[in-house]
Amino acid sequence: MTEQQSDAFIFFGATGDLAFKQIFPALRDLVRDEGLNVPIIGVAKAGWNLEQLRARAKDSLDQHGGADPETLRKLLGLLHYVDGDYADPATFAQLHQELGAACRPLHYLAIPPNLFATVVEGLAASGIATNARVVVEKPFGHDLDSAVELNAILHRCFPEESIFRIDHYLGKEPVQNILYTRFSNPMFEPIWNRTYVRSIQITMAESIGVLDRGRFYDGTGAVRDVVQNHLLQVLAILTMDPPTGEKAEAVRDEKVRLLKAVRPIATADIVRGQYAGYRAVPGVSADSATETFFAARLYIDTWRWAGVPIYLRAGKKLPVTATEVWVEFARPPRETFGENVPAASAHMRMRISPDIEIGLGLRVKEPGERMAGKDVELILTRAGAANRPPYQRLLGDALRGIAQLFAREDFVEAQWRVVAPILGDVAPLHSYAVGTWGPKEAGRLVGAGDVWLNPTPPPSASPAHGTASAR
Ligand code: BG6
Repeated sequence: MTEQQSDAFIFFGATGDLAFKQIFPALRDLVRDEGLNVPIIGVAKAGWNLEQLRARAKDSLDQHGGADPETLRKLLGLLHYVDGDYADPATFAQLHQELGAACRPLHYLAIPPNLFATVVEGLAASGIATNARVVVEKPFGHDLDSAVELNAILHRCFPEESIFRIDHYLGKEPVQNILYTRFSNPMFEPIWNRTYVRSIQITMAESIGVLDRGRFYDGTGAVRDVVQNHLLQVLAILTMDPPTGEKAEAVRDEKVRLLKAVRPIATADIVRGQYAGYRAVPGVSADSATETFFAARLYIDTWRWAGVPIYLRAGKKLPVTATEVWVEFARPPRETFGENVPAASAHMRMRISPDIEIGLGLRVKEPGERMAGKDVELILTRAGAANRPPYQRLLGDALRGIAQLFAREDFVEAQWRVVAPILGDVAPLHSYAVGTWGPKEAGRLVGAGDVWLNPTPPPSASPAHGTASAR
């Protein structure tokens, strides 16, 4: 079944935010670029009819890049709508009817996790879970126990190979490019270890706040929103062993092996922050202790990475929006030329968003009599944002049954194990001013002689990309 194309697309939560922001635009792209031509059935309990759903789809596309008339006509023509309570068998009976001859549907659960069990049971009871696939959104669970429970609910009706847990970072071209660059250029492998790598930094900075998602965010926080998922995915791809064999699962197997070796993060190794003004956001509690900034130092207990500090950082209302990885190479055992060489002078820098860049930083001599040099960066690749949005890539893969870019059960559980000690209000919460790089306390996490490397705003025309922040 994994090779077969799904013959219907059903999305629960059709009138919601996720459908509006991500699903309709992705469906437009799939219709326009990949000829998607299957029934698309929205399900919700909103008292709507099909015309209202079509209007909502059009509104969504108007706000997310528009659609040419032909694509819009096709997409609206494929839409169906079922209105009803998820606990009511009549809702599923109608859904069954709308499916017509389709017998291998893809179900997208764009609904809060507390409704998963009801929907999955409704699908099973009405026979439309058979031969079906299911897509679920992140965050997958709230902690390890709830993730295990959610997995158990899904497994009642869906085998693991039919479950597609979305992490949109995996659908990002530059994230796949990390994997590609590492394993297509054998020169990197001999230096990709504790002997030659001094430290690693991954920063996900966002200049926006929590916008209209106050209520969701306040119950979630930075760790659950982006660290447990996006940043640990990037870390796994960056530090995993080379996949062996041709099997489709080879990459996912190695990522899990790596993540299982990541030491659960200690509370002493984190700094939590909250931007000034966050508590006034609608939906946020007036005495909220939710972090909008998070920084951590962690370690991977393998021969390859033992002792190499890995710094993760994510935050809202920071000076720029950019996600960037820095692999800092070892410094010379002694400074032969007596220079005061800046931190991370030798590095590999991988910019994941919003633009794409891979740079290799080295030191070269300045012309002249003195043996003195400067930092330069060789740009291996540079591009604007990737043109295929992650949701188009991921939904297209899920419809085809290709699971490589989705989080497997064992990976999700390993992710929760890494962050288990640091979930919630477990360390002091520091306030930080909007437009700064978070609380100054984050500086204490990086070791002596190290600094946080702050991404510069896109597009970066200058060759000097990183700026060392004051500690
Ligand atoms: C989402 C988070 O998963 O990723 C958001 O819920 C965050 O809070 C977003 O803003 C960032 O994604 P991207 O693709 O813009 O880096």
